[in-house]
Amino acid sequence: MSIMTSDLTIGQIVDGDNNVIVDLEQIKYDVEKYPFIGWVKKKIAERGFDSTDLTQLHETMPYTEVSALTKWMITETGNKNWREIAHSFTHDILEPLFGREIAVQRFMNIRVLLPQRHEMIINFHTGLWYGHGMGTGTCWIPLTPVFGTNSMQVIGRQESIRLTKLAYKEAWRQDKMQEVFFKASRPVVADPGEAVLFNQEIIHGNVPNETGQTRVSIDFRLAVKGGKIRRKLVGGYYVLLDKDIRKGVLS
Ligand SMILES: [Fe+2]
Repeated sequence: MSIMTSDLTIGQIVDGDNNVIVDLEQIKYDVEKYPFIGWVKKKIAERGFDSTDLTQLHETMPYTEVSALTKWMITETGNKNWREIAHSFTHDILEPLFGREIAVQRFMNIRVLLPQRHEMIINFHTGLWYGHGMGTGTCWIPLTPVFGTNSMQVIGRQESIRLTKLAYKEAWRQDKMQEVFFKASRPVVADPGEAVLFNQEIIHGNVPNETGQTRVSIDFRLAVKGGKIRRKLVGGYYVLLDKDIRKGVLS
């Protein structure tokens, strides 16, 4: 079985109104069958940087190159060789969990968090604040071991909802939100071969990476059929899975 949380039911992931409610569930997948890591290593090597050990990228590539490399890799996720991996993964692993047809982000995010680079951090936020509807969820896939400050910091769903309400009610400033959310958060601890699913209510963000190891991760939003996606559109921001993958031609 690919799924680590074997007792995870569809009812814990999507409710009857097609709202995604999944609360930071960690699942397992086969890194040989879905070679996200190999693809990223190959792309970095194509640009002339040693990518043998992704946790040591800060040693093999200048900091000033990271942004351009990341942007280029994100555009490359629109190509067929990436989609074969990501769409098969979605079809084989995610759709059975969600019990519904899924559309995925056309261009997927690839993130590189170097040690010590405090300017690289992403403030705590939720997907809802960025206009993502409750019919959508996020799949976060670390390609390096994640722990402590190199990981995504998260707050469980109920506490995220409570803190978000409080922040609105009391009109917290950005610095107050960051302080409170940081104190309430915990790092995701995972190894390559694991992925994390969460809904748009979950508060998440980064903190300065003090681990001495680079973190590389991919993430993408997914939209369930019949769910509210708000501002983003299927056919634009989201795409349906490639037809040949759904037909099983590639598997
Ligand atoms: Fe986010």
